[in-house]
Amino acid sequence: MLLLLKSCLLLAAGLFASEAVAVTCANADNCYRALFPCPSPSAVSAAAAFCATITSGGVTATNYPTRATAACGTAPARYISACACGPTCSSSIATSTTTASACTPTPSNGGLVYGDFECGTAPWTVEVLDTAMSVNAVDGLGLTGKKSLVTKFTGPSTCGTSVCTNARITSPQLSVTPGTKYKLTFGTWMDGNTQGFVGVRINGRGRTVDAFDFPQSIWKFNQVSWTAQASETSTNIIFEWLGPEARLDTITFAPATAYCGPHPPLGIMPDGEFECGLGGWTSQKPDPGATAGVVNLSGGSIETFGNFAWKVFSPTDPIPANQELGVSARLISPSVPVTPGKTYLIGFTAYFDNFGIGFIGLMVNNQPFRTYDPGDRGVGTGWFSPQQYFWTAPVGVTAAVVKFEAVMGKAGTMMVDSVIFVEATGTNF
Ligand SMILES: *[C@@H]1O[C@H](CO)[C@@H](O)[C@H](O)[C@H]1NC(C)=O
Repeated sequence: MLLLLKSCLLLAAGLFASEAVAVTCANADNCYRALFPCPSPSAVSAAAAFCATITSGGVTATNYPTRATAACGTAPARYISACACGPTCSSSIATSTTTASACTPTPSNGGLVYGDFECGTAPWTVEVLDTAMSVNAVDGLGLTGKKSLVTKFTGPSTCGTSVCTNARITSPQLSVTPGTKYKLTFGTWMDGNTQGFVGVRINGRGRTVDAFDFPQSIWKFNQVSWTAQASETSTNIIFEWLGPEARLDTITFAPATAYCGPHPPLGIMPDGEFECGLGGWTSQKPDPGATAGVVNLSGGSIETFGNFAWKVFSPTDPIPANQELGVSARLISPSVPVTPGKTYLIGFTAYFDNFGIGFIGLMVNNQPFRTYDPGDRGVGTGWFSPQQYFWTAPVGVTAAVVKFEAVMGKAGTMMVDSVIFVEATGTNF
């Protein structure tokens, strides 16, 4: 018994020691520790669910977890401040093992809202406008974690044959900094045989993901750039379903700079937005005639996530003798820990300035998996197109290094940005 207690304490100490946030959090007091007992993920999840609703709709909840009342009392203030701190342990559990236990309304490291739907639909407000549509967090169908938000028709749509908004979810109001670039990421799954789209709006500015968009009938990872205007200090995020049944998961909204360093708001790949330079990444340039590295695109005409991206530029047609098997430059990630047999989503954006330029090859642990060229569906030229690949760690493989190779046949520019690496736990990849 004593031994067991001792190892529990050691585990807790280890979790906190590895998580700098816990140390710097001013309110990580007795109340906080009672609310978020890190060695007990289910208690942490329940507390996170409570925290997600404590001030929702302007009403302060009083259904305090009984486990915490001895330390926190029954006044809301201490719960609100402890909730604002945590749970810092779930992110260290999440990065060291799996995201399946992540059940927090706010992701780690500067993320502003989390839609992993692991604890139901909170903190989102759900409106069902077409009574034939149901909206539920459902187990076993997630992109990350266990659950995703699933819309289903339980009968003929009340819209008849015309298109209408069947359902809508709205995030809490989120503080934003004027002039700052944010990134919204989310996964959608729609049957390619259905019609219509899922729309997203951030203070009225948004985009749609159409059921016909490529790739179809698998989880599609979407990255959306959004810049707060000079007058904007807050926003909410609205998702709407117009037509299709769909699954929605893994929503994160964070400043692009939150992706600097080892704890990005989503996934485990450090510095994948290149907002703080290469970070732990390596840029190699076999071709002396080319330039390669992280560049500042701010103020230019190309819309980016954040302001920086990795860029290869060849001012003239490359001389093959100067390249290594056609490779002008490479971008190599830091090594990230993986679990054999688990599947990981590699999301990124790719830019090409002309159709004849060649392709970008994606490798994991030096094994080539896919190439992306501007002639591919959904790629094209002149923009950062969102790309994805699902990679499964083979038996015995506990680390992954992602590599992008710029294989250039013509003069021009290729760029890579917005690299996400996150465990994908559901089905339909
Ligand atoms: C990036 O470029 C913009 C526009 O030219 C400039 O204002 C900004 O200071 C640059 N940032 C860095 C870190 O160099």
